[in-house]
Amino acid sequence: MSETTNAITRHHAELAAHLRVRVDAVTGTGSAADAAALVSFLDGELIPHAASEERDLYPVLDPIVAAHGRPTATMSIDHEFITRYRDDLAAATELLRAHGDPAAAAEVARLAGALAALVEVHLAKEERAYLPLFAAHLSGPEQEAVLRRMHGEPVAG
Ligand SMILES: [Fe+2]
Ligand SMILES: [Fe+2]
Repeated sequence: MSETTNAITRHHAELAAHLRVRVDAVTGTGSAADAAALVSFLDGELIPHAASEERDLYPVLDPIVAAHGRPTATMSIDHEFITRYRDDLAAATELLRAHGDPAAAAEVARLAGALAALVEVHLAKEERAYLPLFAAHLSGPEQEAVLRRMHGEPVAG
């Protein structure tokens, strides 16, 4: 990594910390003021950050990933996080079953909501970014062979 990538990672950590504070405030109080503060943070910080990446970072990265990276690496990271959420959810579910306290219930609800958001985005990425390419660049039999493998079925040839 470099000084510049360290700066980006630090900025991400700041964004994530601010986001967590704002989200915790909203889930804690449910107040309109805290919700408005979250929307202000998104408008002032997170969405401009995303726009700057779309404008200045991703166009530089696209050819580098094509030449030196693995375009589905981000999807594998999603799968890693989905599994981690599953494990955290299972642990929180055990706590809820054992103690039944509101904190455990809140943690289960938080993890379930976060997992749902992550899976929603993950499925959209597969369907919008990858499946059209899969359909356009593989023959029908090639597509069917992949599906059979995914289902653990034997593939001829
Ligand atoms: Fe970012
Ligand atoms: Fe997936």
